[in-house]
Amino acid sequence: MKRLEDKVILIAGGGGIGNEMARRYASEGASVVIGDIDAAIATTAARDISEAGGSAIGLELDGSEEDSIAEAVKLTCSRFGGLDGININFTQPNEGDTLDVLGIPMADWDEVTRVNQRGYVLCTRHALPPMIERGGGSIVYTISDAAYLGMSERVGYSMSKAATTALMRHVARRFGRDGIRANAIAPGLIVHEKVEEMMPADFLESSKASTLTGNLGRPSDIAAVAALLMSEDGCHVTGQIINVNGGSLMRP
Ligand SMILES: NC(=O)c1ccc[n+]([C@@H]2O[C@H](COP(=O)([O-])OP(=O)(O)OC[C@H]3O[C@@H](n4cnc5c(N)ncnc54)[C@H](O)[C@@H]3O)[C@@H](O)[C@H]2O)c1
Repeated sequence: MKRLEDKVILIAGGGGIGNEMARRYASEGASVVIGDIDAAIATTAARDISEAGGSAIGLELDGSEEDSIAEAVKLTCSRFGGLDGININFTQPNEGDTLDVLGIPMADWDEVTRVNQRGYVLCTRHALPPMIERGGGSIVYTISDAAYLGMSERVGYSMSKAATTALMRHVARRFGRDGIRANAIAPGLIVHEKVEEMMPADFLESSKASTLTGNLGRPSDIAAVAALLMSEDGCHVTGQIINVNGGSLMRP
């Protein structure tokens, strides 16, 4: 499928899921720019895509810093002539955020909020003008089922993902008539190298048992849905949260 030919897509935050999104977009014909705070993650993904015949640039990006996202958007537009889509996908890895509301150091809460909420707003503010100028585009936010699971820990992370749904709906309503679609993907557990290293095998087994498909989620499952949302196949989908979790949780 080449649904994304002539499209230019910026991915803010690579890693397990982000790199796979970049690969999928490129395989469907898009030119992609992938940015990560860890430059090596982004440049490696871009190199792999280029070696496979795709069009990609990898760069260092701190999505929580205004100058950094402004620069990434500028470079994307100057190298590829505009912007049709952005995936805002990064997340702040905060160890303190494993604690509950009584235990979490407020400095940790502030940091996850700064990166995951303020950063998502900054990325949105810088991506919207060139997309509107081009006649429209698609924004895909990566949230998490943590937004509504009611977790006993990770309060800052869960709140940031819930807040992103409000941002997404705001953007969808305010800019719909400018041709902008905005949606959020809520992954359930998605297994990639880093997750496999972090999670005990018995946890992964019980997670697998909790899906209705009997499978663990993989980055390619998220990338497939994101590609649809970036393409004209997703032209009537906006303002939505799409759960990609093997049915482990059922909710609109
Ligand atoms: N893997 C899962 O099970 C799962 C489940 C639910 C939601 N999610 C969400 O999916 C998204 C991707 O997660 P993942 O599993 O691929 O994790 P990951 O750790 O592999 O990727 C996250 C990437 O974000 C980068 N990053 C961190 N801070 C950044 C910043 N300020 N600017 C730019 N990049 C930054 C990291 O370097 C990392 O490469 C996240 O938003 C996460 O919350 C993942």
